[in-house]
Amino acid sequence: MPPVLFDPDHRLWLLRGPTTAYAIRLADDDTVRHVHWGATLTLTEAVKVAERISPAASSFEAVAAVDELAVEGGARFGPPSLLVRFADGTRGVQWRYAGHDVDGGHLRIRLHDRHYPLRLTLHYRVCADSDVIERWTTVENHDDRTPITVLRCDSAAWAAPHRTDYRVSHLVGGWNSEFQLRRTDVAVAETVFTSRRGVTSHHANPRLAVDDGTAGEEHGEVWSTALAWSGSWRITLHRDPVGRTTWTGGFGHEGLTWSLAPGEALDTPVFAGLYTAGGFGAASRAWHGYVRRHVLSHPNETRPVLYNSWEATGFDVDEVGQIALAARAASLGVELFVMDDGWFGARTGDHVGLGDWVPNPVRFPNGLRPLAAEVRRLGMRFGLWVEPEMVNPDSDLYRAHPDWVLHMTNRDRTELRNQLVLNLGRPDTAEWTHAWLDRLVAAHDIDFLKWDANRPFTEAGWPGHGDPDRLWIEHTRAVYRIMDRLRADHPGLRIEACAGGGGRADLGILARTDQVWTSDNTDPVDRIDIQHGFSQLYPAQVMGAWVTDSPNAATARETPLRFRFHVAMAGVLGIGGDLAAWTDDELKEAVELIAAYKRIRPVVQHGTAYRLRGDGTLTAVQYAHGDEHVVLAWCPTRPYGHATAPLRLTAVRPEVVYRDTDTGATYAGAVLLGSGLPLDLPSGDHASTLVHLRPVG
Ligand code: DGJ
Repeated sequence: MPPVLFDPDHRLWLLRGPTTAYAIRLADDDTVRHVHWGATLTLTEAVKVAERISPAASSFEAVAAVDELAVEGGARFGPPSLLVRFADGTRGVQWRYAGHDVDGGHLRIRLHDRHYPLRLTLHYRVCADSDVIERWTTVENHDDRTPITVLRCDSAAWAAPHRTDYRVSHLVGGWNSEFQLRRTDVAVAETVFTSRRGVTSHHANPRLAVDDGTAGEEHGEVWSTALAWSGSWRITLHRDPVGRTTWTGGFGHEGLTWSLAPGEALDTPVFAGLYTAGGFGAASRAWHGYVRRHVLSHPNETRPVLYNSWEATGFDVDEVGQIALAARAASLGVELFVMDDGWFGARTGDHVGLGDWVPNPVRFPNGLRPLAAEVRRLGMRFGLWVEPEMVNPDSDLYRAHPDWVLHMTNRDRTELRNQLVLNLGRPDTAEWTHAWLDRLVAAHDIDFLKWDANRPFTEAGWPGHGDPDRLWIEHTRAVYRIMDRLRADHPGLRIEACAGGGGRADLGILARTDQVWTSDNTDPVDRIDIQHGFSQLYPAQVMGAWVTDSPNAATARETPLRFRFHVAMAGVLGIGGDLAAWTDDELKEAVELIAAYKRIRPVVQHGTAYRLRGDGTLTAVQYAHGDEHVVLAWCPTRPYGHATAPLRLTAVRPEVVYRDTDTGATYAGAVLLGSGLPLDLPSGDHASTLVHLRPVG
């Protein structure tokens, strides 16, 4: 059965995933209307759904059907996805259908304005191995003389079917507190989720899930969407009084306008959607599968255990100190050594040197070669921290090119962390940035870049440019292009996305990076929540998680080393502590735990994740890979000192007997599913355990 079907009599398209269907139709006025997003149905059934009369038509609500990409014009009063103004002052659009074509799972529907030279292509893409539908748009000015003003150009609008009630799950946060999951009723209103910061942001992640208020982790219908964009974005969720809930999203935030030059076509980023009937857990697992199969470039690679110098040495890096850390890291079993901030220019603190990407001659008198060589001699790969989009005013770069930063005439240049943002929308700035990165990677055969961005945009102007708001798009596109070029020219290079922790995690950045630095907060208690939110969309394989020192630098909380490890082992394990200060006992325990991680790593990084909640304050994650299972359970506090009940597992086969690879204890799958896995948790707070189960025989 082809993935895209068309019924010419009813002008209806049906897109099919393995277990779901999405249907749209062309209305009499040639607008594309939403019909169905949910369980599989046939073309005939979809036609019947399409013929249903929309409720609530009245003289105040003439267009009660839901548009696939609402424009301004006609009796439409909800949030438009596409807003344009033509040179004569006319706003709004009236479409004429101009045909469609299907290429495998890619459907393109072409619409032309009836009078003006505006053309739109609605893109839909489905794959045989995923229920995720990718959508985006291309908007084109077909005139050869006059520009068109674009006030909004979203990638897609999504619609949930009629339900009595609606709830939205979204991720909020801040620096050190990213990915906090919030679930709230959808107000009968327009609710805006947005980043005006030029990066995805810590504060909101461009991912929403809508349900009818009854879905749980393992049951219920969920309509979830995620935008593949790493700059400013906006998603407007609209619940109308007659009971429809729709949401439209794309790049840019409110108030920006772009000029579509004569002959120009603008492609929006992918806004992907997924319907699942198995609750939030099933939704996450389907997204994880999609990210692996359709977003990541190296999904089958196992991410190495890394060491990062930041929490150990801060800006005080030098050849001798880093070599000493590297030796300790290697002796623990670390596979990738990453030197963080402070290695270049006059960068002895956050106020100076950013932008001067040559090794500091005092700290590295012979350049980076001796350190890189020693790291490799110790059997590790070599990685470096960079922050290519930023500059300290106190730097040679800024002194030479003060016009390269985002700025506005007659406005102060707001400094955050003593730095300004380079305007990578400028071809010269972007070219220069690519050139130094390319030289750096080539000169040292760098295996890994931690690509940081430590401040949002302010005074985002582009003096002299005729369409200055374009920088909100062009900067992000330039970041993508630079990463893509570097990766093409240096196939061994791997990149970690970071923006002061998890400020830039999205499907767009994951298409050109391999993992995300989840948060600067490495406190394991806080991390349990952060990781829980992160896992709603992103797989463990991309979730950077370090073990650092106790008390924690961010929270001053003291926790046992084992607990810190067990929390970090739920993602891509890294070590970020000051190894020079670790005791022999701690180093010995770390060796054992890193070895244990390497044994479970294929299951964690390539397996399927199930979020489990035990009783009280117990939280656990189970990873399943074939018939192998890994359970990581954490109990940050133990109210009343009560023992925790056994933890009921999922996804094990009832008829199989499993052995704990550590203790040798055996359990029938039926028992693990029924009464659960007894947990051997130490007494007291910050208790945790790791259980690795394999079938007996
Ligand atoms: C913010 C990052 O999130 C940290 O891990 C570290 O790399 C610092 N920047 C360095 O300035």
